[in-house]
Amino acid sequence: MKIVIISGGSKGLGLALCQQYLANGYQAFEFSRSATHPFSVQCDFAQPETALAQMTATFAELSRTSYDEIVIINNAALLGPIGPSARKAPTDLITHLNVNITSAILFLSQAISAFQAHTCPKIIANISSGAAIKNISGWSLYCASKAGLEHYIRTVAIEQNEQAQPFTAINIDPDLIDTDMQAGIRQASRADFPALDRFIQRKENGILRPPAQVAAAVIRIISSPIANGARYDITDFV
Ligand SMILES: NC(=O)c1ccc[n+]([C@@H]2O[C@H](COP(=O)([O-])OP(=O)(O)OC[C@H]3O[C@@H](n4cnc5c(N)ncnc54)[C@H](OP(=O)(O)O)[C@@H]3O)[C@@H](O)[C@H]2O)c1
Repeated sequence: MKIVIISGGSKGLGLALCQQYLANGYQAFEFSRSATHPFSVQCDFAQPETALAQMTATFAELSRTSYDEIVIINNAALLGPIGPSARKAPTDLITHLNVNITSAILFLSQAISAFQAHTCPKIIANISSGAAIKNISGWSLYCASKAGLEHYIRTVAIEQNEQAQPFTAINIDPDLIDTDMQAGIRQASRADFPALDRFIQRKENGILRPPAQVAAAVIRIISSPIANGARYDITDFV
């Protein structure tokens, strides 16, 4: 049996990944707030300590089974709050860091801990963003959290080289996807987000890819001979 565990699989790219892995015969689990699917675990990454307890219990249960392959995908993320750094409300800032950094790292570290001894092929894929390597005015938190997670993954990759039963850990840049996250970006004000018109034009010009197309490319990357610690761009795999 093969298993995939995804954060943020209720909609968007995460849901398309769950659906395609299920169609490929994997057992799938996703963590999200809305948790509307039979394969969902209800979990709010904005509340890291509660989320930790839910993740730990789920991983402990799942790790009792042996698998032919284990795929862990960190996908849940927030883009906002959008706007100049000093104008961001501290509570929104904390929520962003809790979701994109604290709970994301708890999700990955608890998965590593639960499945480290399993002997099958094991992959950790972090869904990153171009914002991890580009600086975009109004997106300081998102740029910082995406860059931070990429660096975390590269460090995990080095640590895994020292393990008897290592995970392979990679970052994946999914490029532009037609999801609620993009719809939210288009609702920002020009004052908060100077590049707003470019993002509106991308939608109007049909440049955003459907989540199913991006999910297929992500799965193609994960299924190919990947290099531990590497960064992959889906534009090379669509
Ligand atoms: N869309 C793009 O153009 C684009 C471009 C580059 C990178 N990405 C990255 O791709 C990934 C997927 O993005 P997407 O566009 O599919 O986003 P999306 O449609 O907004 O979906 C985000 C997912 O994360 C979950 N999530 C959000 N906040 C959460 C919380 N507090 N606790 C638990 N789960 C939470 C959501 O579930 P609930 O709402 O049910 O909690 C949902 O399943 C993200 O990492 C994003 O940064 C997207």
